[in-house]
Amino acid sequence: MTSLKLGVLGGGVMGQVLARSATQSGLFAPQEICVLDHNRKKLDRLAAELGVQISTRPESLAGAASLLLAVKPDNVPELLKTLKDAERPADQLLISIVAGVPMQAIARHLPESAAIIRVMTNTPCLVKEGMSVLSPNAHVSETQLQASCRLFEAVGKTLILPEKYLDAVTGLSGSGPGFFFLIVDALIEAGVLQGLPRDTSRQLVLQTMQGAARLLLESDGHPAQLRDMVTSPGGTTIAGIQVMEEYKLRATLLKTIETATRRSRELGQKYGD
Ligand SMILES: NC(=O)c1ccc[n+]([C@@H]2O[C@H](COP(=O)([O-])OP(=O)(O)OC[C@H]3O[C@@H](n4cnc5c(N)ncnc54)[C@H](OP(=O)(O)O)[C@@H]3O)[C@@H](O)[C@H]2O)c1
Repeated sequence: MTSLKLGVLGGGVMGQVLARSATQSGLFAPQEICVLDHNRKKLDRLAAELGVQISTRPESLAGAASLLLAVKPDNVPELLKTLKDAERPADQLLISIVAGVPMQAIARHLPESAAIIRVMTNTPCLVKEGMSVLSPNAHVSETQLQASCRLFEAVGKTLILPEKYLDAVTGLSGSGPGFFFLIVDALIEAGVLQGLPRDTSRQLVLQTMQGAARLLLESDGHPAQLRDMVTSPGGTTIAGIQVMEEYKLRATLLKTIETATRRSRELGQKYGD
């Protein structure tokens, strides 16, 4: 496996999505990628679908130019310890998408000058609408950073930020889809309560959310400006907004993200220790 460019450590949901987009976007030839997992059947399916190399032995991926760490946090120490003794390129890049595990906890298992990028991504990656924030350490070259951005651009948008922002990113865009799904679920129920068939309510809510988001994306305006456009004096929207303010929706959302961010920080401390 001397020409291995990307070793995907973990062939679960995220590992598969990234291996798939990396090959389908043409960033890597299938033979340049190897996916590691415990589950042989899962690997065989992936090899048949994408033509990538597969392995159940971490050591066989050690020579890759870049390694993508895509396992659950509890599996990280064991996996990195296994790789520690294997022969690896001096300039190997390790990209971690493991939520909550700080860079220093990963660096502990690697050579002092190891290039590491910690990434916080989210589930809309599954439909190429993900939001991924990349935090490189000082040893990452510009070429490595740009190539990593391209990997995540194949599944959505990217930003580069220092690691100190990643807890807030985790609370906002990492957990965000979960919050959004709860809000959407409540709105669908609200439509049903007003007598709409459930399917109709779902269609109305999803298209309204998507349309409103697109309007925001395609305009330079502040959300409040766009809100004013649909809020006529004494009309239905302002009547609804009054209830949102009365029941403190804004304060609830501020507290939601604050709490999720704090939880990310706590988990980071736990895994960091
Ligand atoms: N899913 C998301 O939406 C999402 C979003 C952002 C970030 N993330 C992060 O991405 C990481 C991966 O998430 P995921 O949902 O893809 O997890 P997952 O579905 O559990 O995938 C991880 C895979 O790696 C395998 N594995 C673990 N240790 C291994 C080892 N030593 N050797 C071989 N295979 C091993 C696991 O096998 P076993 O199950 O047999 O252990 C599993 O198949 C997580 O750290 C998560 O925090 C996920």
